[in-house]
Amino acid sequence: MMRENIMQIDIITLFPEMFENFLKTSILKRAQDENKVKVRTVNLRDYSTDKHRSVDEPPYGGGGGMVIGPQPFFHAVDALKQDGSKVVLLSPQGRLFTQRVAEELAQMNHIILLCGHYEGIDERVRQNLANDDISIGDYVLTGGETAAMVVVDAVVRLIPGVLGNELSASEESFSMGLLEYPQYTRPREYSGLKVPEVLLSGNHEKIRRWRRKEALRRTLKLRADLFESFSFTEEDLALIREVVKEELESLKY
Ligand code: ADE
Repeated sequence: MMRENIMQIDIITLFPEMFENFLKTSILKRAQDENKVKVRTVNLRDYSTDKHRSVDEPPYGGGGGMVIGPQPFFHAVDALKQDGSKVVLLSPQGRLFTQRVAEELAQMNHIILLCGHYEGIDERVRQNLANDDISIGDYVLTGGETAAMVVVDAVVRLIPGVLGNELSASEESFSMGLLEYPQYTRPREYSGLKVPEVLLSGNHEKIRRWRRKEALRRTLKLRADLFESFSFTEEDLALIREVVKEELESLKY
């Protein structure tokens, strides 16, 4: 299915400058230059109706720190929102960001990312303004900005045409539910360390099989949990048997 319009991502933040180099570099830059995506940062403070442009206040009920109030977020989203916009809050309480979630967001026409900072943001933003809440992992960041960069990076590279000549995103190991197979480049031998012979053989079928096997080996050794939602082909089962045998063999010495 062809996308009708260019995907637009708006990032609402108190620190737009954090995104400058990120958005001007590498694939993110190219994707914008080639009109595959429009990414815009919006300064939350610009939407404050306070005469000092203040956005945070001490929490009701006491306790330390400051909480970003609802008003600037509601006004900013109101100004940016279109039909079908997805409003995503970044917070440690959100659903875990995975490749699946990135794929889901890559289907959207317009995403608005809300970044909190400091102690937190008023709960009404989560409950009544955002329609999704995403965490990039079980750790606490100083703000949603670095999390928003992770989300933008993972989503933009999934937009058709963005990766150009590189391996198409849907063929990647992680999309297929496995870890990536090991990669090598020149020289054939570096300080006595050799590249696996099969990769130099020119036999594409052998190379394909070897790569699949090594992806399965890595996943088995490092992230066996990924197999829970993985469907093995007949070939995978045969390769896994070989891997298990080899790994048990290597334990004997
Ligand atoms: N803001 C603070 N910590 C975060 C996390 N782990 N994920 C997303 N947003 C956050």
